[in-house]
Amino acid sequence: MAPRWVLLLPLLSLVSAQELNLRTVVHRNYNMSKVSGVWYSISMASDDMTRIEENGDLRVFVEKIESLDDGRLKFSFHFMLLGDCVEAAVVCQKTDKNGKYTLDYKGNGTVLLWETDYRLYVTFYLRSVNNGTTTQVLALYGRFSELRPSFRARFEKICKRYGLGPQNIIDLTGQDQCKRY
Ligand SMILES: *[C@@H]1O[C@H](CO)[C@@H](O)[C@H](O)[C@H]1NC(C)=O
Ligand SMILES: *[C@@H]1O[C@H](CO)[C@@H](O)[C@H](O)[C@H]1NC(C)=O
Ligand SMILES: *[C@@H]1O[C@H](CO)[C@@H](O)[C@H](O)[C@H]1NC(C)=O
Repeated sequence: MAPRWVLLLPLLSLVSAQELNLRTVVHRNYNMSKVSGVWYSISMASDDMTRIEENGDLRVFVEKIESLDDGRLKFSFHFMLLGDCVEAAVVCQKTDKNGKYTLDYKGNGTVLLWETDYRLYVTFYLRSVNNGTTTQVLALYGRFSELRPSFRARFEKICKRYGLGPQNIIDLTGQDQCKRY
């Protein structure tokens, strides 16, 4: 009999090969415990590219998201610092609006869960105001380290709503130097 993993492998690639299914996309009344778990950074966008390009302070790779019992949302990340992989966590405070959080990092930040299907992808929006300067950042995370192009196309559309074009978007697939694939 074939070892079990021979049967498992085609199953896994089948899941990660799934296309975006608009009927499963949620825009409100999120169940945050379903957003919890392991995620991978797929794409990021910003109106300040220095923050997400190499050595940018917001060029971070997500590892997992946890919805804490008190309603706060915790992001665990890693990033490169002087050639080393550094782990960091950020905890966002809940607001009275479902899917909306505040973040105290280099200014006054607002984090919005823009949309998700829980199972394959999630899109977050961050607006940060520091000393009168506003910075916008969008992030596309996947349950797998790669997603089909249809997810990236939808991310581009969302970015456009915030005035961000293709020149503002970076692809993080395969860019993680602290790989855990
Ligand atoms: C939210 O999701 C969790 C985990 O899937 C589930 O146990 C819980 O019943 C859900 N809550 C609501 C209000 O649907
Ligand atoms: C954050 O907002 C508060 C209240 O509006 C303001 O007093 C403070 O200066 C802001 N901080 C920054 C870094 O912009
Ligand atoms: C805040 O902005 C003002 C006006 O642009 C500038 O003069 C000041 O140095 C800035 N302060 C900080 C802490 O960056």
